[in-house]
Amino acid sequence: MTLAPVSGQGEPPPSRAPRRSAPAAVGGAWANSARDALEGAVTAIAAAGAPTPRLDAEVLLAHVLGVSRARLLSDRDLAVAGPAVRAFQDAVRRRSLEREPVAYIVGTRGFRDLELALDRRALIPRPETELLVEVGLLLPRGARVLDLCTGSGAVALALAHERPDLELSGSDISNAALALARENAERLGLRVRWQHADLLTGLAGEFDAVLSNPPYVAEGEREQLAPEILRHEPPEALFAGPDGLALIRPLLAQLAPRSDVSTVALEVGSGQAAAVGELMRAAGFPALEVRRDLAGIERVVVGERGG
Ligand SMILES: C[S@@+](CC[C@H](N)C(=O)[O-])C[C@H]1O[C@@H](n2cnc3c(N)ncnc32)[C@H](O)[C@@H]1O
Repeated sequence: MTLAPVSGQGEPPPSRAPRRSAPAAVGGAWANSARDALEGAVTAIAAAGAPTPRLDAEVLLAHVLGVSRARLLSDRDLAVAGPAVRAFQDAVRRRSLEREPVAYIVGTRGFRDLELALDRRALIPRPETELLVEVGLLLPRGARVLDLCTGSGAVALALAHERPDLELSGSDISNAALALARENAERLGLRVRWQHADLLTGLAGEFDAVLSNPPYVAEGEREQLAPEILRHEPPEALFAGPDGLALIRPLLAQLAPRSDVSTVALEVGSGQAAAVGELMRAAGFPALEVRRDLAGIERVVVGERGG
């Protein structure tokens, strides 16, 4: 996870300059052209300091009107009228004044090929976490895979979708997150075995691979987190003691005697890869590979059980 918030749909913001500002566009109960409403929203969201105001405004307005972003920008006759006026006002208020992430406002987030339902029960899946899925895709046919700290179920569900031959489990300490993961699985028609557990304690079954994006933000980094994260995402999904390794350390200690597990892949914070690599080696997973995210940060550490 980066310390910055996730943007609207994980896409770079368009570089067009605003046509003109229309501050009253999200204010009244009358119909506005979608373009004017959009400009008013961009102004409000930018003034609140959110990093991708135009992208956010487009995603929110497209969601409220039930149209694609492409139509929003191409259909000059599109209007914001009736209940959509209030709905868009509310969405812009949440994004600007409350700095609520777009994914929680629209209630969905794209991850790999899936559209996941999202709310405050779970962390918003980040693009860099797709690296864990890429590790899973390389596993042998029929491998038993655990997505530990599953949150919304993102990693387990993406693998269930892309590699139906795998035997997938997802676990979390949060019953609320697990409920969301189950809802996502049902809606998407994907089969994953969900379990409530504190790391590996009380977890049933054997696994060939454990993939995990655990909480790894150091307590001291709290002040650097964007308001979107700090105010809205679940704290139990974020923080892990003074150095950010408070969960990874006991997890690897629990994995050390597990002869069933031959592959471990952990997402880590910026600057943590070397320390986590050492802990993996000490736990009996010496063959290390480190995968970098799109920003070049060492993001996922992969260990294989030594012969
Ligand atoms: C960083 S989030 C990752 C969520 C999801 N895998 C993703 O990448 O979007 C970490 C998750 O770990 C869970 N968690 C925190 N402590 C845990 C523990 N001791 N055992 C199991 N899960 C834990 C949190 O509830 C949260 O859902």
